[in-house]
Amino acid sequence: MNRQERRNFIEELRARVKDGKKSAFSYVCSGLKQKENKFNWVGIYVLSGDKLQLDTFEGEKTQHVQIALGDGLCSLAVLKNEIVNEADVKSNSKYLACFPTTRSELVVPVRKNGFAVGEIDIDSDLKNAFDKEDERFVTEIANMLGESFF
Ligand code: SME
Repeated sequence: MNRQERRNFIEELRARVKDGKKSAFSYVCSGLKQKENKFNWVGIYVLSGDKLQLDTFEGEKTQHVQIALGDGLCSLAVLKNEIVNEADVKSNSKYLACFPTTRSELVVPVRKNGFAVGEIDIDSDLKNAFDKEDERFVTEIANMLGESFF
């Protein structure tokens, strides 16, 4: 998506948020996967006790429906309450492999009152797929979800 399409996406999400969590979460996962070529898998994990629980996703099924806090790049993003943008997943020993085709991964925390309560996880089949503009865009989405549904 170009800048304008991304603005439109955010505006549409604002409308979906009013329809409820299910509508908003599926719009984020299916919309992003559909409209961003380099996004090959998009999922939303929710922190539940000491686990990350996969809530909604678009793309292939993953065996990582639950991730113990401490495992994977997904945990790192929540524990550090920071974006994890891994340009080359194969070079990161923390990486928990889901799909053989994944080359890079972006994990953006969803926050409530500043605390990480979930995340948007995006896998790409391209190496070094995600730039600062992607980080800002997905953060804007994550903030809307955090404020509305957690
Ligand atoms: N790769 C993630 C696990 C989730 S899958 O990408 C869907 C990780 O390292 O935590």
